Amino acid sequence: MIIKTAFQVPGRTEQSRYEKIHNKVFNTAETGSKAVAKEIAELIRASKNNKIVLGLATGSSPISLYKELVRLHKDESLSFKNVITFNLDEYYNIKKENSQSYHSFMHQYLFDHIDIDKKNIFIPNGDIDEKNVENFCLDYEKKIQSYGGIDFQILGIGRTSHIGFNEPGSHENSATRLISLDPITREDAASDFGGLGLVPNKAITMGISTIMQAKRIVLLAWGHKKSKVIQHSIEQEIESNYPATFLQNHKNCTFVIDAEASAELTKFKTPWLVKDCDWTDSLKKKAITWLSKKVSKPILKLTTRDYNEMGLSSLLAISEGSAYDLNIWMFNQLQHTITGWPGGKPNSDDSKRPERAKPSKKRVLIFSPHPDDDVISMGGTFARLIEQNHEVHVAYQTSGNIAVSDDEVIKYIEVSESFITNKEILENLSSLRTNLSKSSLDHSEKYGLDIKGAIRKSECLAAGRFLKLSENNLHFMNLPFYETGKIIKNEPTKVDIDHTVKLIKEVKPHQIFAAGDLADPHGTHRICLDIIFNSLKTLKTESYMKDCWVWLYRGAWQEWNIEDIEMAVPLSPGQVLQKRNAILFHQSQKDKVMFQGEDNREFWLRAEERNQKTAKSFNKLGFAEYQAIEAFKRYHF
Ligand code: F6R
Repeated sequence: MIIKTAFQVPGRTEQSRYEKIHNKVFNTAETGSKAVAKEIAELIRASKNNKIVLGLATGSSPISLYKELVRLHKDESLSFKNVITFNLDEYYNIKKENSQSYHSFMHQYLFDHIDIDKKNIFIPNGDIDEKNVENFCLDYEKKIQSYGGIDFQILGIGRTSHIGFNEPGSHENSATRLISLDPITREDAASDFGGLGLVPNKAITMGISTIMQAKRIVLLAWGHKKSKVIQHSIEQEIESNYPATFLQNHKNCTFVIDAEASAELTKFKTPWLVKDCDWTDSLKKKAITWLSKKVSKPILKLTTRDYNEMGLSSLLAISEGSAYDLNIWMFNQLQHTITGWPGGKPNSDDSKRPERAKPSKKRVLIFSPHPDDDVISMGGTFARLIEQNHEVHVAYQTSGNIAVSDDEVIKYIEVSESFITNKEILENLSSLRTNLSKSSLDHSEKYGLDIKGAIRKSECLAAGRFLKLSENNLHFMNLPFYETGKIIKNEPTKVDIDHTVKLIKEVKPHQIFAAGDLADPHGTHRICLDIIFNSLKTLKTESYMKDCWVWLYRGAWQEWNIEDIEMAVPLSPGQVLQKRNAILFHQSQKDKVMFQGEDNREFWLRAEERNQKTAKSFNKLGFAEYQAIEAFKRYHF
């Protein structure tokens, strides 16, 4: 069958001259997924009654695609009656019924909501005896062939550059087989399994050659953490240590990615190397910081020759060939972002400062998605705002209950049991303790979750006391979208927005600080930010909102690029220590962090090293040497 695709591989343009794989960049995962779902729907509809064979992936990347396919089925009568599916992979030594199996994943997100004939679903069986694995794999390959091969293959990509579970070292001729998972892949799966030790070591995966035989391949990647591996796969040489690079040899492969995942591609990272640029201020800043780093010189020492030799002659041209003018301009831009007065400096000229001088006492509302992001991400700035007499409020958006380990709860139960006399409470506690010790707690059990939430709340109260913030100014929102007791959260609803709107109305803030960090492992930060943005939309016409500025901080996982920073708050060694101590009040998140993402340093260390790195970057650009810097970007709504 000839497959007509929505994305035709285009002729190479100047812009894509570093690229070896066709790619389409969308603003968000949702818009990208919709485009891919549309292509799949057209394929299915065009096939009339012929069979269409889809190769399917699991993981976070295809979730919004599956949601859209389900919507197309429900709202636009897309039928899957003639669709055959083959999943890429399955963990090995895992039962289908296990909630972490890819079998469960596929039913949860897709198969249970569409009209696919269950006998047309094929997923590698992770529960067969090792001696039968080889035959099973041969059979899987034969089955794919018996249906005429895969028409349309969906892929995600791992941090190791794996496609399917073809880890580094996989051969391009590899077929379906049992493999050992790379340690990085196991680390990434740790939060799904409730700890690294519980992640399977092996998986059954389609091979590189199985994937390459698909007639059409679309790889999905969203978010900043995929940007490096995407750049490598698209622009570097083919190498078995980067399995996704094999896709360069496929004739009909498209990477569908969002803006964040595309950020490292040459055409976006250093666009001046591939095209004529419209030199906006923001692009000028990006280019000059890049140049300074590239030639290892502070801004004020960059010469005309540096600009020319590094491909920035067109930038020089707009400033009449003067490196000096560009350097001074850039230096001033950055210098004006640095301030020790994050709430504005009272009674002073604020024309070159990031914040307004008036009112000198501001109402500040810090939104913290989890109960510790406030101190991890902006603990130094937070302390300054209090010291500088602003009225500071913190809104903890979610309870953060699922990130408290059972061991931690047992500790608190033991303390409580030593003085509680009420028989009924003691019995409840004792039964909870027994369940926790046997790891047989149903994680949606409300009582256990409430205790976990209470532990996190008490940690916030302790950190607040330490920073001398009144308890009345700490708001525990417990937004309902989060309260599933599981990693997978509910869709946010009007109730979440109403809670948020109500709080903003009460505080009438001059400044809102919110987590603009979109890379947390479970997407909670992204949902929390959307809720704030939607609330701001609702409140846009309120008179006090005209005086409200919104600053975005980044959480534990990443920092703003220097050129994007609009307020840089330096911290002294003493302030760094104060911040560390505030973070350490969050004891349930210390030593054994349950959901760490891809970085296994403790939060306080991660925050400290990141703030030091920002300070070093400023220093290398020619600014004073600070101990650490917290950075913010303004959001205009
Ligand atoms: C899943 C699979 C993997 C994932 C990859 C990305 O079936 O084969 O290759 O696609 O690990 O995972 P996410 O999408 O969770 O980042």
